[in-house]
Amino acid sequence: MKNVADFIAKTTRELQAQIGDKKAICGLSGGVDSSVAAALVHKAVPGCLTCVYVDTGLMRQNECREVEEMFTGQFKIPFIRVDAVDEFLLKLTGIIDPEAKRKIIGETFVRVFEREAKKRGDAECLVQGTILPDIEESAAKTWVKSHHNVGGMPETMTFTELVEPLRTLCKDEVRQVGLELGMTNFMVFRQPFPGPGLAVRCLGEITAEKLDILRRADDIVTGALDELDIWQYFAILTGLRSVGIKNGKRVYGHVIAIRAVSSVNARTAEWFKIPYDILSRLSKRLTEEIPEVCRVVYDITDKPCGTIEWE
Ligand code: XMP
Repeated sequence: MKNVADFIAKTTRELQAQIGDKKAICGLSGGVDSSVAAALVHKAVPGCLTCVYVDTGLMRQNECREVEEMFTGQFKIPFIRVDAVDEFLLKLTGIIDPEAKRKIIGETFVRVFEREAKKRGDAECLVQGTILPDIEESAAKTWVKSHHNVGGMPETMTFTELVEPLRTLCKDEVRQVGLELGMTNFMVFRQPFPGPGLAVRCLGEITAEKLDILRRADDIVTGALDELDIWQYFAILTGLRSVGIKNGKRVYGHVIAIRAVSSVNARTAEWFKIPYDILSRLSKRLTEEIPEVCRVVYDITDKPCGTIEWE
């Protein structure tokens, strides 16, 4: 992207041609990509769009409420929140393979959007915040993982138009577009959160109990690291169990990993050097405040070789 204003003008014309007088549903995750995609579509074809935010049960602590408040506070675009927690968890029961998880999640999202489209006069267009690295990593030749909104999409769906205005941009460029559209710094510089949510940070089979432990751990990790200027940071429930001692008694608890990376466009990333005193406090809090956790490890892997998410 050479010039942000030119990009917005050109994309506006393309969106008007593609959407015309059709209705659209935007799969909103609360992250910058889908929010900017929604803002672009709303600007190009006012009145065509309904944003659908799906509570998959794979969200972080308080995330659903925060996203709803942030989005409805910033935009006058119709917003609906759909509770699909049971549906997602049921479909993920017994699934361990990371690719299988991603494909199930991608398909379930589309089925939820299709149901919502039907309720809204058969909206024909599905708007997604797909960006270039999602496509590159899902492409056959350079395949790394099926991003939920690209390789994880089902082969058939009732939408006739897939609208992806950001598919040629990287994250840093999407942020420039967001700022140019007048979005708040808070929204534009939110740290990325993957569409499959905590599913790609909860290794092994996903259960409500494991998600609950991960949510509490992630809340502690993100809360402690918010003050540092880190591109992306979170907790992982590694799926490992380890022996430890709590209150003088043997425990066989969960192992939490801390991941923090610096990046510009997510294609490469460098592990962030968190000061030892902060790491030390974090480790104590995680093991003291979460009874199920007995060990904490720190991920010191750059991308490549390690992707940012663990699955
Ligand atoms: P990886 O793990 O591939 O992540 O190094 C690169 C960036 O993309 C995010 N990510 C996703 N975002 N759908 C998304 O919307 C996905 O399926 C997905 N997988 C990874 C990840 O959080 C990081 O910022």
